Amino acid sequence: MEYLTLNNGVKMPILGLGTWDLRGSPGYKAILSALSVGYRLIDTAKMYANEEIVGKACKDSKIAREELFITTKFSGSYASYEGVKRGIDESISLFSDSYIDLALIHEPYGDVFGMYEALQEALECGKVRAVGISNFDKNRYLSFIKRCAVIPAVNQIESHVYFSQLDFKEVLNAHGTQMQAWASFTEGRRNVFAEPKLVEIAKKYNKTAAEVILRYQIEHGIAVIPKSADVKRQQENLNVFDFSLSEEDKAQIALLDCKKSLFNWY
Ligand SMILES: NC(=O)c1ccc[n+]([C@@H]2O[C@H](COP(=O)([O-])OP(=O)(O)OC[C@H]3O[C@@H](n4cnc5c(N)ncnc54)[C@H](OP(=O)(O)O)[C@@H]3O)[C@@H](O)[C@H]2O)c1
Repeated sequence: MEYLTLNNGVKMPILGLGTWDLRGSPGYKAILSALSVGYRLIDTAKMYANEEIVGKACKDSKIAREELFITTKFSGSYASYEGVKRGIDESISLFSDSYIDLALIHEPYGDVFGMYEALQEALECGKVRAVGISNFDKNRYLSFIKRCAVIPAVNQIESHVYFSQLDFKEVLNAHGTQMQAWASFTEGRRNVFAEPKLVEIAKKYNKTAAEVILRYQIEHGIAVIPKSADVKRQQENLNVFDFSLSEEDKAQIALLDCKKSLFNWY
């Protein structure tokens, strides 16, 4: 596993497991299998209603807590100062009474400044190791950081070959915020695995299109959290640290970028 260093010195795995839609016993088993094959970052959220199985899988994996990196996100009924305070304590109790590695405001809605104040307080008292945001576009991000004492360590946003947001990444970098991609595989909105250019490039490296997609983002310094419930695909998605893409291939992949969200969130 490779690690990135966040703006407060905390080390974060560059690749983790997304858990949107992983629930119940199959979800628990999927998270446990990911941990057993080498995942160390698990991305959850209040909205996913699966923090309990994330906590249980982490505990049952017998991996030392300090080797794991758990991200959670606050939104909906947690979108206020009080909501985040309550939510942090709830999450911590589900994560074996330990701490949250990265706590994010899930969406730029509700009382974001109240939420962020609660996150900063949790940071100060050690309940949370790093704080950040998600789904803040460039304008929202720039106006948000003008009022922040602590620059968000991470902004988790939509990013894939059709909407890489590499230009926004430069803005985030310039202010000290790490970009983390959600929907590296477009969440199934496009059959990215059959994209001819990616299939062609993958063949050259004896890799799959999925591996090329993740490698492309990682080589651009983007953290990734692909979701898979299948242990073989989980292993495949981890198998991205033993090759490098040529500049020419990266330029070819860049041509796929339509610079338009597939989710219309922006
Ligand atoms: N902050 C936010 O607002 C936000 C929004 C969306 C997502 N997220 C986070 O980002 C994570 C990733 O995004 P996502 O889950 O929406 O979508 P995704 O990772 O783009 O795609 C997941 C889909 O790809 C399939 N898949 C995974 N690896 C594959 C492979 N190697 N070959 C073929 N198919 C493969 C999965 O199926 P199988 O499970 O069957 O393998 C699943 O259907 C989420 O789980 C969540 O943690 C955050």
